[in-house]
Amino acid sequence: MDLVYRPRRLRRSAPIRGIVRETELSPRQLIYPIFVTEGKSVREPIESMPGQFRLSTDEIIRECEDLYSLGVGAVNLFGFSKVKDEIATNAYDAKGLVQSAVRAIKSTVPEMCVQTDVALDPYTTHGHDGLVIGGEIANDVSVEVLCKMALSHAEAGADWVAPSDMMDGRIGAIRKALDVHGFSHVGILAYSAKYASCFYGPFRGALQSAPSGHKKTYQMDPANVREAMREIALDLEEGADVVMIKPALAYLDVINRVREAFDSPIAAYNVSGEYAMIVSAAEKGLIDRDLAMMEMLISIKRAGADMILTYFAKDAAAILRADFGSFK
Ligand code: PBG
Repeated sequence: MDLVYRPRRLRRSAPIRGIVRETELSPRQLIYPIFVTEGKSVREPIESMPGQFRLSTDEIIRECEDLYSLGVGAVNLFGFSKVKDEIATNAYDAKGLVQSAVRAIKSTVPEMCVQTDVALDPYTTHGHDGLVIGGEIANDVSVEVLCKMALSHAEAGADWVAPSDMMDGRIGAIRKALDVHGFSHVGILAYSAKYASCFYGPFRGALQSAPSGHKKTYQMDPANVREAMREIALDLEEGADVVMIKPALAYLDVINRVREAFDSPIAAYNVSGEYAMIVSAAEKGLIDRDLAMMEMLISIKRAGADMILTYFAKDAAAILRADFGSFK
């Protein structure tokens, strides 16, 4: 055959494949989500997410030290609150779970970028991200509570707050609240395009935060992509430092569209359902856990995400460390 271009020439050996590789993963761009619980020396397995745990603060510190030494420089904290009420009182308690964990991490691994989830669902009896008034998820009063929550995290020393609630106008309101109170250095990682997805199921098991009803009046319709562009533009205008698309795997086209259109850093959330699918298929011997994990993460990177929140952060970092300098 008389072929000018033979693509296989560039796939002949591991070093050749290595030098033409277009996308690389780095532990530095992985963010590990952590579930904070009460007590001491608590490492409570999460049934819906095999291999993940609810951790007490002392265990979180150990975890952060491990992560940091593997090159993972960021964690994202979620509170597993057993105290729940209609108005999410515990969400902004200065001595609350997340606030205390932030302080503890900052005093032992000060350089770790500590991010905190800002949404009311772990703290409400109804499991919604905002307050429910007259059967509706009330937007503006919820934003007021979210601002208090974000401020309490900033006061504890959080580097970034991460509003995941999808209320309108919350990025601008939180930015203003932070600035007014002397926290202009605290960043906002905005869950800008967050879809109403079934892939959050295992996470809701982890936090016992399954909502009454659904979240479709504030989270986005999975069928929409132009709406995502609008949400992203809006959050950037309101002061988001980083915008996020969530989930990742079924939304790679959204990540790609956002990458093409915006220059800001983009995060993608490789959510609990994506984690659980791989873990359970691997447990059944149907796929190779590590290969599936790495292929999934590189696909998210290739689509255009700069950073990835993933429950695989530690495992992937360990593999990346072991691979560094060798040919695969
Ligand atoms: C809620 C929140 C959810 C997740 C992160 N923040 C669930 C939801 O919106 O119901 C999901 C994360 C995951 O599935 O890993 N504020």
